[in-house]
Amino acid sequence: MEFYDVVKARRSIRGYKNDPVPEDALKRIAEAVSLAPSACNIQPFSFRIVLNSAMRRKICGVYTAPWLAEAPAIAVVLGNADVCWKRLEGEPIIPVDIGIVMEHLVLAATAEGLGTCWICAYDVAKMNKVLNILPPWSAYAVTPLGYANVQPDKIQRKSVDEVFKIIK
Ligand SMILES: Cc1cc2nc3c(=O)[nH]c(=O)nc-3n(C[C@H](O)[C@H](O)[C@H](O)COP(=O)(O)O)c2cc1C
Repeated sequence: MEFYDVVKARRSIRGYKNDPVPEDALKRIAEAVSLAPSACNIQPFSFRIVLNSAMRRKICGVYTAPWLAEAPAIAVVLGNADVCWKRLEGEPIIPVDIGIVMEHLVLAATAEGLGTCWICAYDVAKMNKVLNILPPWSAYAVTPLGYANVQPDKIQRKSVDEVFKIIK
């Protein structure tokens, strides 16, 4: 798919077929993830692609949406706030690094014809526990990965002029 077609095709998908995610698609997605920029190239992230059904059930016990349970795979992005670059004021840049690498995964998945949906509205301590993630690592975001069985409704965006101002 052409880049702008991928960007236009990406939507949050909240309904999945149970067809598995092809391994070659996962390999291409992994490469796209590995090419993501990060502050000082520290790459303070690591993904877990959970195919294991018992582990997926545990994740779905923490974030209980039925559509997450339908998906044949769940991607979790882990971040390490201790090692990431810190802003001059001392604030860890980890949310930015995570946002970029996760969106690489999301857009690569879209290019593969797969649906995704960013998920952050879960109890982080509980998610870390079910995934056996220990500090300084933490589960920053989750997404289902799979083929959509729903068509998302049309969505309103702010106008281009409102979000993108050119200063001459
Ligand atoms: C950082 C972030 C966190 C999100 N967390 C959730 C979530 O926990 N649950 C959910 O259903 N959608 C979540 N979303 C999806 C947004 O609701 C969605 O991106 C937004 O409504 C725009 O719709 P679209 O993705 O279809 O363009 C999240 C999106 C982002 C970027």
